[in-house]
Amino acid sequence: MEEIRLYNLKRQFEAIKEDVFTALNQIATRQEFTLGPWVEKFEKEFADYIGTTHAVGVNSGTDALFFSLQALGIGEGDEVITVPNSYIATALAVIYCRAKPVFVDIDPLTYNMDVENIKEKINNKTKAIIPVHLYGRPCNLDPIMDIAQDHELFVIEDACQAHGALYKGKKVGSFGDTGCFSFYPGKNLGAYGDGGMVTSNVRKIFDHVSSVRNYGRKEKNLMGGIGYNSRLDAIQAAVLSIKLKRLDEWNAKRAELSRFYHDNLSDLDEYLYLPTLTPIPNLKDDNAESGTTHVWHLYEIQVNPKYNPDDLNRFLDKNGIHAERHYPIPIHLQPSMRFLGYRKGDFPVTEQLAERCIDLPLCPYTTFDEARYVVDKLEEFFL
Ligand SMILES: Cc1ncc(COP(=O)(O)O)c(C=O)c1O
Repeated sequence: MEEIRLYNLKRQFEAIKEDVFTALNQIATRQEFTLGPWVEKFEKEFADYIGTTHAVGVNSGTDALFFSLQALGIGEGDEVITVPNSYIATALAVIYCRAKPVFVDIDPLTYNMDVENIKEKINNKTKAIIPVHLYGRPCNLDPIMDIAQDHELFVIEDACQAHGALYKGKKVGSFGDTGCFSFYPGKNLGAYGDGGMVTSNVRKIFDHVSSVRNYGRKEKNLMGGIGYNSRLDAIQAAVLSIKLKRLDEWNAKRAELSRFYHDNLSDLDEYLYLPTLTPIPNLKDDNAESGTTHVWHLYEIQVNPKYNPDDLNRFLDKNGIHAERHYPIPIHLQPSMRFLGYRKGDFPVTEQLAERCIDLPLCPYTTFDEARYVVDKLEEFFL
């Protein structure tokens, strides 16, 4: 049997390769590689898809976050509230601005920012909140936006794992001052290399990011500020444009596979803690439920503490199943973040998840037979 990958990008390529080759041929023939019409076209398509007036392509999700913070004037001495259960890049972007990431623990049901913990971290240095829609599940944005409004804070959505997720009928990435997306190849919408996007309804942010990604250029041969070389290139934009057309269909397949795992693993509840299928279980507003969707970038389970998730990972690997752990060391406990002064025990919910988590293979091209095999092997390991 072919190895069951966490994401099977080869099968995805087979499904779209004619369109990809046609686009590559056109780009190479016309020699249009950086910015230009392909990037502009995709920026427009992505802004329309997310529901913002602007979208600017950059070279990564990390730079999307960094440039957003910079555009909002976040700098030395400022504090930015976010979660320790994210990819390191969320915190790095804050540090690049010489500001300080201030962490709040996550909610044990959704694994996203626990809104109850935000207010106590706000002081006169706090300038912004970065909610992270982790694993593809939207954060409960209404209370976050309310707190931000009450305390005059900016909101930068880290939607790097949540392309297409809805919160109360609107796409994540359209609520905050900016939305930040990564197009790293394994994402729900992934390029053939690195890429990222800032979405926003604010013209000033669009202008800043458009300039700063391109050396600080204001117009040809006129540099308005210190910028970077962080452009989305034409090949990535063309691939992303092809993939965007299929994103909703692919996200729907991810949801079906998640339900399959949920239904077929519930007998192992003594050994495994499964993610809740309801995107945000504590949403008060009934009508909101159907308009709120999880896009299942990762299907993250927790293993009973009597078992070691690394042993399970090795067992799955021996059986041809590629699982992974996101993230076994939370940001606040990473050696590179020691200078922030956090300690083990500061964020118990995040730390428990880090100790026990493992992700099962899940992508639009995972078959139900493969998912069945994963379930069988989990049963074999525990029973
Ligand atoms: C939640 C989160 N934030 C930020 C990033 C950074 O994105 P990139 O790898 O494109 O720089 C990632 C991607 O790995 C991510 O998952």
